[in-house]
Amino acid sequence: MSTELTIGKTGLEEVFDNVSDSDISELEDVIRNFASRMQIYRAGIKEIRTKLEILDEEFQTKYSYNPIHSIESRLKSPQSILKKVKSKSLPVTMESVAANITDVAGIRVICNYIDDIYRVADLLTSQSDVTLVRVRDYIKNPKPSGYKSLHLIVEIPIFLSTGAYPIPVEIQIRTIAMDFWASLEHKLKYKTDNDVSPDLRKRLKICADEISKLTTKCRTFTRPFKSATA
Ligand code: GTP
Ligand code: MG
Repeated sequence: MSTELTIGKTGLEEVFDNVSDSDISELEDVIRNFASRMQIYRAGIKEIRTKLEILDEEFQTKYSYNPIHSIESRLKSPQSILKKVKSKSLPVTMESVAANITDVAGIRVICNYIDDIYRVADLLTSQSDVTLVRVRDYIKNPKPSGYKSLHLIVEIPIFLSTGAYPIPVEIQIRTIAMDFWASLEHKLKYKTDNDVSPDLRKRLKICADEISKLTTKCRTFTRPFKSATA
């Protein structure tokens, strides 16, 4: 019996063998175009994150108080972008992503108190280079699941060597308590393949309401912040 191993072509090599040179160069263009666009989205995250950090540092310097507890960010993966485009029956092109998908660049801001959420949102959206595109206030109008958070879509120009490119960034602003609840609920949904039982759904909703009450209660005996304009 021969012990020699016959190493066949990898799947990708076989694909490339059957593709013409012009198709490969078209594919390279698509990949380069996608990578360039992703670089602009990444820049959008950096710009907004820096603005938020500057505001937080200003509050720390002036009032010895941080409205922001922490900031998280993520760039949507190519797989998730594709999934979303397909689920909305949109054309699978970079133009279609640019025109229709507003959460490729995402930032989550965790605040200590509900007041801080609206203060941070106001201060950010009143900056001259930030355009407010959409607000969804799931704190005033929670989702049926019990989900609470303030969602903003803002647009910010990114300056490259070839000019300015406006880019949308989704910002979710919530308290530590709201974030704790959302993470837990997300994990439960994920673990159970989105099939959360009616009983668990009800308990999660009760839990969301209790967390809100707790945040409000804490606010009444902890008032570190006096005035933003002082
Ligand atoms: P998407 O297509 O999912 O982005 O929805 P949308 O564009 O209508 O935005 P929406 O205002 O519903 O917010 C979307 C994002 O908010 C999600 O990607 C989640 O991060 C978060 N979110 C919205 N609803 C819930 C919820 O019930 N539970 C949790 N854990 N997160 C939620
Ligand atoms: Mg989303």
